[in-house]
Amino acid sequence: MGALIRCAIVLLTVATMVNFRVLTRAMSTVAKSFEASQVVPDVIPKAPAALLQVKYPSGVEVKEGNELTPTQVKDEPSVKWDAEPGQYYTLAMTDPDAPSRKEPTFREWHHWLVGNIQGNEVNSGETLSQYVGSGPPEKTGLHRYVFLLYKQPSKLTFDEPRLTNTSSDKRANFKIAEFAKKYNLGDPIAGNFYEAQYDDYVPILYKQLGA
Ligand SMILES: *[C@@H]1O[C@H](CO)[C@@H](O)[C@H](O)[C@H]1NC(C)=O
Repeated sequence: MGALIRCAIVLLTVATMVNFRVLTRAMSTVAKSFEASQVVPDVIPKAPAALLQVKYPSGVEVKEGNELTPTQVKDEPSVKWDAEPGQYYTLAMTDPDAPSRKEPTFREWHHWLVGNIQGNEVNSGETLSQYVGSGPPEKTGLHRYVFLLYKQPSKLTFDEPRLTNTSSDKRANFKIAEFAKKYNLGDPIAGNFYEAQYDDYVPILYKQLGA
């Protein structure tokens, strides 16, 4: 009898392990990296299935949490995805770790927000907030910078302030998940993120923002 129970337990354990492996293999690497880094749930409740391609003019590419420097990401990147013809998209970049991941009292500080993008031509969209690179304050450690792409239900009229790259006004205390809810965007369909900490480009960026 004891042997039978032991045998059943072993079988059950093996079955659970096999099940778990099938499950994790089915989960995309995007979902895994978003969860491992806690972008889910800190920014969005559910990870996107697809990876956004994000490349900077400096030559670096965003790769699911790799570390880049503020110098490398100072200029607007090119972002690509598999777009459906005739479809409108919203693209966002946001930092949940403002002013630090430990004490994110300004969560989130948003860096870029473009709506009504046709296909995957970001330039065709309506810029709500112009691109601003990473400016993590000194001694606040690594910040996560998260790119998210949403499929719009249709062309939208955005009731949002238009923010330039020469002021930090209205960038803080943003919530991309609430923005998505407000405009019925659903969950993001693609995403990516990198991490960055202070370097000597940050004071230059602050000057640009008039800080
Ligand atoms: C700020 O935005 C303008 C476009 O309005 C652009 O020409 C300029 O290069 C940007 N400045 C920086 C430092 O990114």
